[in-house]
Amino acid sequence: MSADYVVHGSVAVITLNNPPVNGLGLATRTAAVEALQRAEADEAVKAVVITGGGKVFSGGADIREFNSPKALTEPTLHTLIATAENLGKPVVAAIHGVCMGGGLELSLGCHYRVALPGAQIGLPEVKIGLVPGAGGTQRLPRVVGLEQGMNMIVTGTPVLSEKLAATKLFDRVFDAGADLVASSVEFAAGIADLRPLPKVRELKVEHPNAEAFLATARETVKASAGAFPAPLACVECVGATVGMPIAEGLKFERDRFLALAQTTESKALRHAFFAERAASKVPDVPADTPTRTIQAAAVVGAGTMGGGIAMNFANAGIPVTILETKQEALDKGLATIRKNYENTVKKGKLTQDKAEERLALIRGTLSYGDIAQADIVIEAVFEDMGVKETVFRQLDATMKPGAILASNTSTLDLDRIAGFTSRPQDVIGLHFFSPANVMKLLEIVRGAQTGKDVLATALALSKKIRKTGVVSGVCDGFIGNRMLEQYLRQAFFLLEEGALPQQVDKAIEQFGFSMGPFRMSDLAGNDVGWYVRKRRAVESPGLVYSKVPDLLCEQGRFGQKTGAGWYDYKAGDRTAYPSQAVNDMIVAQSAAEGIGRRAIPDDEIVQRLVYALVNEGARILEEGIALRASDIDMVYLSGYGFPLHRGGPMLYADTVGLAKVLDAIRGFAQGRHGEAWAPAPLLARLAGEGKGFNG
Ligand code: NAI
Repeated sequence: MSADYVVHGSVAVITLNNPPVNGLGLATRTAAVEALQRAEADEAVKAVVITGGGKVFSGGADIREFNSPKALTEPTLHTLIATAENLGKPVVAAIHGVCMGGGLELSLGCHYRVALPGAQIGLPEVKIGLVPGAGGTQRLPRVVGLEQGMNMIVTGTPVLSEKLAATKLFDRVFDAGADLVASSVEFAAGIADLRPLPKVRELKVEHPNAEAFLATARETVKASAGAFPAPLACVECVGATVGMPIAEGLKFERDRFLALAQTTESKALRHAFFAERAASKVPDVPADTPTRTIQAAAVVGAGTMGGGIAMNFANAGIPVTILETKQEALDKGLATIRKNYENTVKKGKLTQDKAEERLALIRGTLSYGDIAQADIVIEAVFEDMGVKETVFRQLDATMKPGAILASNTSTLDLDRIAGFTSRPQDVIGLHFFSPANVMKLLEIVRGAQTGKDVLATALALSKKIRKTGVVSGVCDGFIGNRMLEQYLRQAFFLLEEGALPQQVDKAIEQFGFSMGPFRMSDLAGNDVGWYVRKRRAVESPGLVYSKVPDLLCEQGRFGQKTGAGWYDYKAGDRTAYPSQAVNDMIVAQSAAEGIGRRAIPDDEIVQRLVYALVNEGARILEEGIALRASDIDMVYLSGYGFPLHRGGPMLYADTVGLAKVLDAIRGFAQGRHGEAWAPAPLLARLAGEGKGFNG
């Protein structure tokens, strides 16, 4: 972590060196400030170039310092930028690869900026719930204009350097393939004697109709920002470039930055950002664990899941063969895949050529011989141990040595499945979510004997097929569905006690879930849960659960696929219409159970559903099924529509305070079916210690 200093003729070249993205951590900032001061003092130096070592200029703040006091230790980013801006000699930022966040803010403090084409230029702070905090909102619009600046800051989306070549951001964009340092040194030598030194802060933002533009921006952003305050704060900061002198604008920006950093929404986004990175790390599987090569894949079963899983491989350029038992099922599965691609083309999200290219990577077969050479096979046949046994014995007999044998089972014991083979070290669970070609979550289930290299390969594969991989131990339902069962159990109890599906859904959707439990069940199929409850009734005869969903299923109301579920549906319309018949059935069931129905407040609904997730999540954490609380949050954020601005169930519980959560749970334990509310020991312990799940 340093900034190298080399003098070429009369030009000092300072190279930021902090791999992988030259994050502006304390050590790098210190070295950069010292190098600038050295250049100032060196009489032989007439101009300075700042560039980045390796493939990038700078990705911005060093995320490793995010929650540490180091970020505020001198020299801060502000001090570094001020040092560059106030230097008595011209400073040229020489940009390539990536110039984002604090990296772009630093370059805006330099007197000149030159770049190679293809560099990503952006201020992504809004994506973690912040506004840029080191002058980005004040300086960027001064060089790229109000509208372009607004767009870049509010969306956080980077723009390629060549697209900004005509703006005042760049004094020169070199040809592709140019030697950045040599060209920049030449440029710097050429402007070395020019005075006064140009400063972005001295420019004015010109716009023919700034007020109207800002009003429209405010309205548009308000309508789309949802629960997040940062996008609107970005608009206000950019607006300040029009109405305020820069010193005031910088203070305005700083105040917004500091206030936003304290919001639960920004904390949630930062939590999710780190959670996603943490999820790919497994303590006893170091980053240098060897992985197996995956060049060809196979999928067994061309049903709902198998087709979507195969598409993931094709989308990543990996050829995949799908195996079925019957030609008819195979044809149907392949036709569904083709239709999915056609729909994507129709929506304009994929070109016809690309779709054909991907389809060409997918083949069907009825013979195990055709998949024997695949590097990985994923089984997605019926959720039945007998069927899984047949398939895994067959795979064991036919697959080449070293092939990874994966199961997409959502509830069955992976260790038993591994036991059907002579190579349990090669067996792993890869639990995709429906629709498998769309949903981001992939639960990676580590069996008792799963090899470390197999786990490392699965983690690498999840990135390659653009999934968020989260490791789970073996238990019924793994992380996500095991928690969901408790959530649904409460949803059903609420019906008996006095709520109706539409009230429950509305309450939890207002909390921020993308879909309430009843609309979700109608989409996924109510028969799925029915099957699980029947199994539970045999395995755990004492377990209490509401009979209401069984009564619904006995009427054949399986959800959207049967045109009726918790709600009524009209043909070709996915809108859920409250169902009089279902509501009458619920009220009748309360009477049959001798329950006096009561008006249930929305906040009780939310607490019972969310704390059911939290309590089960605490057990999962304590048992080591999940490696960390943030993994559980990742599962719920990426697979179950938990509101992002709350950061997942475990972070939400931390935000509320575990003592308060525990109190509520103890209260519910006094109510009807209180046995469902035994507090998880870990929750009780952490609450007693005044701690949270995330520390
Ligand atoms: P599905 O019933 O849509 O498809 C299963 C397919 O497997 C059928 O096409 C069937 O012909 C084929 N099949 C059955 N036995 C076979 C055999 N011996 N050899 C080759 N093919 C065979 O089922 P779905 O929904 O795709 O589920 C598959 C697996 O994925 C199950 O283990 C399920 O628990 C799991 N899963 C399902 C999710 C869902 O939302 N549907 C979500 C996550 C996991």
